Amino acid sequence: MLDKMKPWKNTKNSSVLRDKIEVIKEQSIPAHVAIIMDGNGRWAKKRALPRIAGHHEGMKVVRKITKLANQLGIKRLTLYAFSTENWKRPKTEVDYLMKLPEEFLGTFLPELVEENVRVEMMGYKESLPSHTLKAIERAMNATKENNGLVLNFALNYGSRAEIVDGVKRVLDDYKRGIISEEMLNEDSFSTYLMTKNTPDPDLLIRTSGEIRLSNFMLWQLAYTEFWFTDVLWPDFNENHLLEAIEVYQNRQRRFGGV
Ligand code: IPE
Ligand code: IPE
Ligand code: MG
Repeated sequence: MLDKMKPWKNTKNSSVLRDKIEVIKEQSIPAHVAIIMDGNGRWAKKRALPRIAGHHEGMKVVRKITKLANQLGIKRLTLYAFSTENWKRPKTEVDYLMKLPEEFLGTFLPELVEENVRVEMMGYKESLPSHTLKAIERAMNATKENNGLVLNFALNYGSRAEIVDGVKRVLDDYKRGIISEEMLNEDSFSTYLMTKNTPDPDLLIRTSGEIRLSNFMLWQLAYTEFWFTDVLWPDFNENHLLEAIEVYQNRQRRFGGV
């Protein structure tokens, strides 16, 4: 179970953090932040704990970072929680990871509702255990009217499969006369992806020192700013997110222009 948690309204930011937040908010805030939350297993290993202890700790960080993202006015936070390749892991670990949404949302959902956060999910729902899907759908349903931060979990998500499936659906629509060759372009194709009608990430963060995408949002990250850190996900905190945004604010995005 989750450690006892105080509701958000009772968790005050320190005054140093509050000041930092104010400074960061003076400049442009990335509308969509995507995070590859990596390093839970190594965090646990360093402490001679089972890997699942790292996942449990990582879940608490999700809560902290969601709260800050919402405070900063980030519109969308996409968190890579489980990839289509993560099924290769030992069954006990996979089983635990599939229980995490229930554990997280079981405690956290009332706060998300109260804080105007909307829960969404992208990934292959069909192959998720029904208890996992039920927890997510319950949260999506309970928060569907909220119009604050969108907390989008990438769960059983894989970008190559997403693109191939998108192409298959284009072919299907082509056969049915819904789309013509002339109509197919980058904008229309992107509506066949799981991210349809949502803007691409402005900032991608990956923790744990790995400098790779691991099949995450290959299409959507074409012009995203990347920020990598050696910090393991369970050690990631508010200051790290603020640092990443500060770096982002000092980048020059050219999108191919001058
Ligand atoms: C990220 O942590 C969480 C998931 C992939 C589900 P890892 O479990 O990959 O941790 P490391 O990379 O083994 O340290
Ligand atoms: C990427 O991390 C997937 C998630 C964070 C959910 P992995 O730990 O699975 O990636 P690799 O195996 O190091 O590339
Ligand atoms: Mg990993």
